[in-house]
Amino acid sequence: MGVTGAVGQELLALLSQRKFPVAELRPLASARSAGGKVSFGGKDWVIQEATPDAFAGLDFAIFSAGGSVSLALAHEAVKRGCTVIDNSSAFRMQTDVPLVVPEINAEALDAHRGIIANPNCSTAIALMGLTPLHRAFGLKRFVASTYQAVSGTGAEAMRELDTQVRAWVKGESSPPKVYPHTIAFNVIPHVDSFLEDGYTKEEMKMLHEGRKILGHPTLRVTTTCVRVPVFRAHSIAISAEFERPVDLAVARRVINEFPGTELCDNPSTKTYPMPLDYAGKEKCGVGRLRKDSLFDNGLSLWICGDQLWKGAALNAVQIAEALVARGKLRIT
Ligand SMILES: NC(=O)c1ccc[n+]([C@@H]2O[C@H](COP(=O)([O-])OP(=O)(O)OC[C@H]3O[C@@H](n4cnc5c(N)ncnc54)[C@H](OP(=O)(O)O)[C@@H]3O)[C@@H](O)[C@H]2O)c1
Repeated sequence: MGVTGAVGQELLALLSQRKFPVAELRPLASARSAGGKVSFGGKDWVIQEATPDAFAGLDFAIFSAGGSVSLALAHEAVKRGCTVIDNSSAFRMQTDVPLVVPEINAEALDAHRGIIANPNCSTAIALMGLTPLHRAFGLKRFVASTYQAVSGTGAEAMRELDTQVRAWVKGESSPPKVYPHTIAFNVIPHVDSFLEDGYTKEEMKMLHEGRKILGHPTLRVTTTCVRVPVFRAHSIAISAEFERPVDLAVARRVINEFPGTELCDNPSTKTYPMPLDYAGKEKCGVGRLRKDSLFDNGLSLWICGDQLWKGAALNAVQIAEALVARGKLRIT
């Protein structure tokens, strides 16, 4: 669902690349795209309009078409025997919906009732770096600042950055449509809508989704989310405080041993994770590791990850793979 979108296109590529055993593909989008075609597995498949009956006979659906479409159609799909993996924020905080990063809490899949939520992209990437440290030292609280790529907003936002850069080179201007301000050669400290207390919804996802995924109800988090003129891959600067003293050598080892995460950290060779290096990469990279000068038992770090992949399409495919491996594709 949402096959023509930024995430949908990556889903097709990953299902193929990871040799997911697909007998029938049913590409779904809005009525605008119905009748068009996508290539997959050496065949062309006709895009259909997403309606309740479009899910009949399917084992599972990956939804990437926004929250309102998920709210309208996810339960319809489940009623027709189809397990839904949802990329939107519509169901993430519902208690009967598992919110899953397979490397962290795959066991939560076993209790699913038909809908499984894929986490917010910045939260998933932050936790890929923080989880091994949490297991080693006990995470108490952290401060996060994000540097979020435009593909996190979707295909239209990627076109907006491209158009504005080209206009700038020609000495022309191209007014913003997707973002409230020009994104080319700028940074916008505003991702998602503002709440009454001054935080944005995106910033609060790091706290609420982080607590749910880690099973850590007392975790404290403050986040500032910033959109940057990068096409693909989010970066996050984090200062974290732990229950126990942090040993840097142990921190480096547990990060590197954690599946889906790698250490990319060598100041002497100017080595640290950057979006250009982590776009189109399955692993998230952690670097700039140092004892934090603010917190007791503190560590500062920098994480990069492809949010179209680990923050959306790859994580969704990994959830599907884990469901199959655990024999939990169907509701029992
Ligand atoms: N981009 C990311 O990095 C990212 C990360 C995590 C989660 N997500 C979530 O994933 C979802 C998709 O994001 P995206 O970035 O791929 O957006 P996008 O590039 O704007 O694509 C949106 C997709 O939704 C389809 N769609 C729109 N209205 C529809 C409707 N009424 N019925 C059926 N399909 C409809 C569009 O189809 P048409 O072409 O026919 O309009 C298109 O395929 C969103 O919920 C987003 O929050 C995105």
